[in-house]
Amino acid sequence: MGKDVIVACDFASAEQVFTFLDKFTGRKPFVKIGMELFYAEGPQIVREIKKRGHKIFLDLKLHDIPNTVKKSMSVLSRLDVDLCNLHAAGTVRMMEAAIEGLTRPDGTRPLLIAVTQLTSTDQESMENDLLIHEPIDEVVMHYAANAKKAGLDGVVCSPLEEGKVHERCGADFLTVTPGVRFADGDIGDQKRVMTPAEAKRIGSDYIVVGRPITAADDPVAAYERCVAEFCD
Ligand code: C5P
Repeated sequence: MGKDVIVACDFASAEQVFTFLDKFTGRKPFVKIGMELFYAEGPQIVREIKKRGHKIFLDLKLHDIPNTVKKSMSVLSRLDVDLCNLHAAGTVRMMEAAIEGLTRPDGTRPLLIAVTQLTSTDQESMENDLLIHEPIDEVVMHYAANAKKAGLDGVVCSPLEEGKVHERCGADFLTVTPGVRFADGDIGDQKRVMTPAEAKRIGSDYIVVGRPITAADDPVAAYERCVAEFCD
């Protein structure tokens, strides 16, 4: 898969997401389904969006004992998602088990990426709550290297970490970056943002874009603008 724009469909119901997706009569966007929509509607929402011709990033961030993650990944693989994720904090063994579970009998599997440290975790909370005392940048890079070691395809990372991840883990290790905003857009609650064109320049493989598209007056035009800036 090449560079693409993934639209974060952070809606609370199937009805809302279909009203949104019905607007896309031309190019079908790669869609991110998160916990909110998945827990509201169950696996059927994945099947239905897939049937409409969209690629799917199922953002469920698994983190459990290796055996449970392996079995759960096997279920997601049968759902035919294109991309899914887990927490690198679950250890290399958990990530290896995830790859095993995800791999179908014919050897194919969805792409699998890791969350390193959530952007909501800062140095202080990492030290006080998790008792991790290394600098957060090093923790992020170490977790990315662990993901690579376990055979994963890439990581979710902020635009600021993107360059370092490719440097440490190789150019073909995928970086999926949220926090994208148009130069003339509202940044909302995101702190460190980048435009689609900047994300392209720094080498992101995929950008995850939510409200700049979902809350736009013309979502299709906003999506096409993202694609033009990032992919073309
Ligand atoms: O609406 P917005 O463009 O901010 O949406 C970004 C999407 O990426 C949301 O689904 C959000 O949960 C997700 N995300 C993020 N920052 C991270 C990881 C995921 O914004 N560090």
